[in-house]
Amino acid sequence: MKYVSAATAPPTKTGDVKLYDAEAFVGMRAAGRVAAACLDMLVEHAREGVTTQELDRLARIFVLDHGALPACVFYRGYAHTICTSLNHVVCHGIPGPRVLRAGDIVNIDVTVILNGWHGDTSRMYAIGEQKRRSMRLMDITFEAMWRGIRAIKPGATLGDIGHAIQSYAEGERCSVVRDFCGHGVGRVFHDAPNILHFGKPGKGEALREGMMFTVEPMINLGSPAVKILQDGWTAVTKDKALSAQYEHTVGVTADGVEVFTVSPGGHDTPHASAAMI
Ligand code: MF3
Ligand code: CO
Ligand code: CO
Repeated sequence: MKYVSAATAPPTKTGDVKLYDAEAFVGMRAAGRVAAACLDMLVEHAREGVTTQELDRLARIFVLDHGALPACVFYRGYAHTICTSLNHVVCHGIPGPRVLRAGDIVNIDVTVILNGWHGDTSRMYAIGEQKRRSMRLMDITFEAMWRGIRAIKPGATLGDIGHAIQSYAEGERCSVVRDFCGHGVGRVFHDAPNILHFGKPGKGEALREGMMFTVEPMINLGSPAVKILQDGWTAVTKDKALSAQYEHTVGVTADGVEVFTVSPGGHDTPHASAAMI
């Protein structure tokens, strides 16, 4: 794998790892903030009786009102601003007429483009009263993501991130989805390198200051096996057991990591709930 300066690299997925300058960090901070604020806005709306397409409508308006574009609209034929992944849906759930019900857990994933920069983040929302095992899965997934993020600094490796996530999740008797991964991000939505959520310490590429990517582990209560539904998007667990996910967009700094998608409203919690605000 080759590392190149993003400032002079073509703004496409070339397979090289782009290293970004301070100006790019300014752009990503702003894009990440809009994405995170959109998820904050949805906290009070994600409640019993609301459809996932209504959440999508609210997200689209919010993103456009903030001078950004929804990155997923027209992305490989996708037509929505957010993905809404309920219960045993692992990721890429399509908003539609499904009404949220008490006991549902739903991941909402939004990606915005602001001045050319991508902010990509997702969180879990707890709808109404929850079963203990749903809460436990969300807690574990949140912690797994943060353990991955806390492993990031120049000189650490991609394997260190994956190992931090996998060893914790499996230690809690959960499984890590292998079929989807985090990704380099910047002016390109899904760029090199792939960020696997499993791995071995010290293995894989070394992290360098200026890299930008997502950490977005999908953790299952049952087996890690997934399948894609007929719609070509919705990924579900084969055993229909619950799945959860969190995602942040981050940049590698001189001495650690900067999270671009921190919640401006303090909703960076294991599970947001409309009942709490
Ligand atoms: N936001 C997702 C990610 O984390 C990608 C969704 S692509 C879509 O990478 F087309 F399904 F929206
Ligand atoms: Co992503
Ligand atoms: Co995402």
